[in-house]
Amino acid sequence: MASLQLKNIYKVYPSGVTAVSDFNLDIQDKEFIVFVGPSGCGKSTTLRMIAGLEEISDGELYIDGNLVNNVAPKDRDIAMVFQNYALYPHMTVYDNMAFGLKLRKVPKPEIDERVKEAARILGIEMYLTRKPKALSGGQRQRVALGRAIVREPKVFLLDEPLSNLDAKLRAQMRTEITKIHNRLATTFIYVTHDQVEAMTMGTRIVVMKDGFMQQVDAPQALYDYPINQFVAGFIGTPQMNFFAAKLTGTKNKVYVEFGEEKILLPKDKVDLIYNLDEYLNTDKEITFGVRPEDLHIEKDLVDKYPDSCMEVEVDVVEMLGSETLLYCKLRKSEEEQAQENPDEIKSIVDDVYNLVAKVDSRAQVKRGDVIKMLIDTQHCHLFDKETEMTIVARDQEARKAYLENKAEEAAKAAAAAEAGETAEGAPAAEAAQAAEEPKAKKNIFKDLFKKKKKPAETEEAETSEEEKKDE
Ligand SMILES: Nc1ncnc2c1ncn2[C@@H]1O[C@H](COP(=O)(O)OP(=O)(O)OP(=O)(O)O)[C@@H](O)[C@H]1O
Ligand SMILES: [Mg+2]
Repeated sequence: MASLQLKNIYKVYPSGVTAVSDFNLDIQDKEFIVFVGPSGCGKSTTLRMIAGLEEISDGELYIDGNLVNNVAPKDRDIAMVFQNYALYPHMTVYDNMAFGLKLRKVPKPEIDERVKEAARILGIEMYLTRKPKALSGGQRQRVALGRAIVREPKVFLLDEPLSNLDAKLRAQMRTEITKIHNRLATTFIYVTHDQVEAMTMGTRIVVMKDGFMQQVDAPQALYDYPINQFVAGFIGTPQMNFFAAKLTGTKNKVYVEFGEEKILLPKDKVDLIYNLDEYLNTDKEITFGVRPEDLHIEKDLVDKYPDSCMEVEVDVVEMLGSETLLYCKLRKSEEEQAQENPDEIKSIVDDVYNLVAKVDSRAQVKRGDVIKMLIDTQHCHLFDKETEMTIVARDQEARKAYLENKAEEAAKAAAAAEAGETAEGAPAAEAAQAAEEPKAKKNIFKDLFKKKKKPAETEEAETSEEEKKDE
């Protein structure tokens, strides 16, 4: 059981690659935190820094309130299951699981008890006398988990532990790990790039991209209130539809215009836009986001809300049994239609779908149909086209806090600009910029080439090395 605190953590590899930038996170005791993000975004690196296998280039890591940057991995009371877990091929399952405890000189009866208990939790009791090569991938995976469980660590770090399993076993192990977490009541940090795993297992999810943390939230909040276009696109399958759009109309009746479509935004949504004036009837473009599941074709709904409907042409119908995916094209403008030459042979490659809708599998739709589609505007998303950040607050309270914060920042920048002009005669613009400079931009390279003691590897790391040698 442990809480963790990561403060302004950076990782710059000696090659110059900045793998993690300004990572800040408070992890409560017993939480199940999931790191997700595309390949190379810094998930494993962050985990390895927590384990002590990778030096922290800058920032502070606290476990239960104690600074552990320079604490050896073996003294951090953390167990890690690696992305490419490795078992000792010449040892039985029992010995593989007992090995770490033997090294720690834990009394034999206690080792026996812990190994058997872990084997029972993982359903591998009958394999205890087998060697790893006589096990399936899924069983080996469970042994690797077992090795971590017997340690009874304060924190579990799991780096894509299910990546080698087939879909069915993966789903099964997913629930097993959740059960293990409930049972052990310990802090878990779990890395995956499978968003279903992230959504179903995490108490909170950290979405990362290019070494930067994008958003930390409970799974449902992440789905409902993505902070930017990246998170919006990353969470949810098929991914959210995005349209280049503009806001038009009046303050009381705001429309989203994209392509040939004009959709009325509900008043309560409009009221949550941080700064409507910036976008309403201006040149500033937005990105309109709609999830495939928020598009509807049921006739009664379409008839009831004509202001929220668009017209699309169905291009591909994918029947998945439980639901149907419709890949559709938006209506073309008269200009575009006029430019089209009906005799021209179209390439199928550049025939791009504009949107995907997830509809009831009983819907009677076929390729070529031109249909009306209702957008559930209560659940639509609006992003600034340039910054890709959401322009809609979660609720009025969040909107108020944001605006207050902005006003404060502006006041500070103005004050700094003035001070710069009078005190040092520095150009006002420069001073203002300096005031806005994020704290994060301190010199992160300062300690990079300072010689530090190489942290001792944990026993799992040794195991991996060992296995590599064996191979
Ligand atoms: N030892 C190293 N030296 C230099 N660069 C490294 C090293 N290890 C990782 N990197 C780089 O750091 C970045 C983050 O790598 P990391 O392994 O943390 O990604 P990841 O999110 O775990 O990706 P994946 O999902 O593929 O496992 C990548 O650009 C990677 O190439
Ligand atoms: Mg990784």
